[in-house]
Amino acid sequence: MASRNPRRDPRAALPALLRAAARVRGHAHAPYSNFPVGAAVLAGGEIFVGVNVENSAYPLGVCAERSAVSAAISAGHRRIDAVAVVGGSLRPVPPCGGCRQVLAEFCAPEVPLVYSTPGGRKVVSSLGELLPSAFGIDDLRLEERLEPAPVRPAVRVVGKSRRASAR
Ligand code: THU
Repeated sequence: MASRNPRRDPRAALPALLRAAARVRGHAHAPYSNFPVGAAVLAGGEIFVGVNVENSAYPLGVCAERSAVSAAISAGHRRIDAVAVVGGSLRPVPPCGGCRQVLAEFCAPEVPLVYSTPGGRKVVSSLGELLPSAFGIDDLRLEERLEPAPVRPAVRVVGKSRRASAR
């Protein structure tokens, strides 16, 4: 098989991304779900990793994919060329809906995305396949916006107040 150059074909980077995601998964902070996840993204030819970071206030937890995206963006990158996720299940676990949207901010639809079990069972997909018809920056174009609808006055809830009913 012809070897691929990661600069030209980001799919060539997927094995290294998977290794990085599997390795960093050991740093996940997942004491509540007991479901550690590791993620790795390729940006500017470099690999950035992230893990899920849960919190005792549950909704504050962050997914591994978002941690990895934050690392790449914090290093100054704005384009992600490939993504790998390693979850803690017997079957490969794809990114959640929220993470697909976050990835879509920085990934073209054709960006390869692989998700895998720690044992190596994997699915190779693309962001466009996982999030078709994504909402994006083009949907916010000012020239295509409608006038905002006027704010309706608040509706008074019909019913007797406690004082009125006591009479
Ligand atoms: N999780 C991720 O890190 N990535 C995903 O795409 C799916 C879910 C994390 C969130 C939470 O910490 C745990 O897995 C269980 O949902």
